[in-house]
Amino acid sequence: MAPSQIELAVDLLSTNEVVCIPTETVYGLAASLYSEKAIDKIYALKGRPRTNPLIVHIGRKEDLAPLCIEVPAPLQRLIDRFWPGPLTILVEKSDRVPYTVTAGSSRVGVRMPNHPLTLELLRALPFPLVAPSANPYNAISPTTAKHVQDFFGSQIPLLLDGGPCQQGLESTVVGIENGKVTIYRQGMITTEQIRELVGDVIEASAELKLVNTDNSTNVPDTEKAQASPGMTLKHYAPKTPTLLCEHLEKFYAEAEGKAFLLFQKKHPALPLAHQYVLSESGDLAEAAARLYQCLHEMDSKSYRQIICEKFPDIGIGRAINDRLLRAGGGIIS
Ligand code: TXA
Ligand code: MG
Repeated sequence: MAPSQIELAVDLLSTNEVVCIPTETVYGLAASLYSEKAIDKIYALKGRPRTNPLIVHIGRKEDLAPLCIEVPAPLQRLIDRFWPGPLTILVEKSDRVPYTVTAGSSRVGVRMPNHPLTLELLRALPFPLVAPSANPYNAISPTTAKHVQDFFGSQIPLLLDGGPCQQGLESTVVGIENGKVTIYRQGMITTEQIRELVGDVIEASAELKLVNTDNSTNVPDTEKAQASPGMTLKHYAPKTPTLLCEHLEKFYAEAEGKAFLLFQKKHPALPLAHQYVLSESGDLAEAAARLYQCLHEMDSKSYRQIICEKFPDIGIGRAINDRLLRAGGGIIS
């Protein structure tokens, strides 16, 4: 009998290879936590700096204990509520986690993804997987197997196709800093949901809520964004120049060659054929699920610029704004 996809994946991952895996957020490029060779391949394939750490993915909640020294109580509450799901926690690592995975940091990021195929794979393996999003460094994250295929083709020995990612935006990254729960990356689990469980919450990524400026040379201080390495201001970016915009009216007279990414409805004063609406019913979760798919599509056409409407600054809308801000290199117009 031919081996199953899971059996093939187990074989490859056990022999220093990388495998592309689906998750509920975005597709990941996976390697064994203990394969230096496969981890080197991930960094090389992505063109990613070694200063940017990898998230460890586990198949059972009990797989966390061996990877860390302790789990602070507020993070445990979040795990109990949101795992499996789009939440990555940063905890002090144990000796079992190599520094190559944490980019030299004493903290490791861990999450239990919520996708049946990947959970089955993780549970069939005797080791956890590290997995960054399966895109070249700084490009738009992939939410379908085809996106990954387009990026990497035959460079990846196996791509597990788990269908389109149901949630579509990367996990929320949280840790504890000065005794307080701190959000380092906005994601599908919202600040409001976290606050409800643990009370006071610090938003480290709030430093990226930038000065509103019409002066595109006013690029903010990237260093501040490095509390969680990898959260640089130019990230998640289409190849087409992209801009997050609070006032679409300014493009009424100069819409030529531009595409518009909108939340709920088209603007009659802009060319209708070049407007892309993410959720006609105004559902932020639906908008998030479709965001990268839509940016990939817009990027494949020959627009000169992609103009993105600013989303409501609540719940998942904040994670969407965060990604669009980075897609535009930190400028809000
Ligand atoms: O939803 C997700 O989290 C997806 C899927 C594949 O699981 N993964 C993902 O990984 O988005 P990646 O590598 O593209 O982004 C991980 C980010 C890093 O850039 C960094 O900001 C943060 O998570 N991170 C991971 N480990 C960390 C650590 N030890 N300390 C600080 N930040 C860390
Ligand atoms: Mg990524």
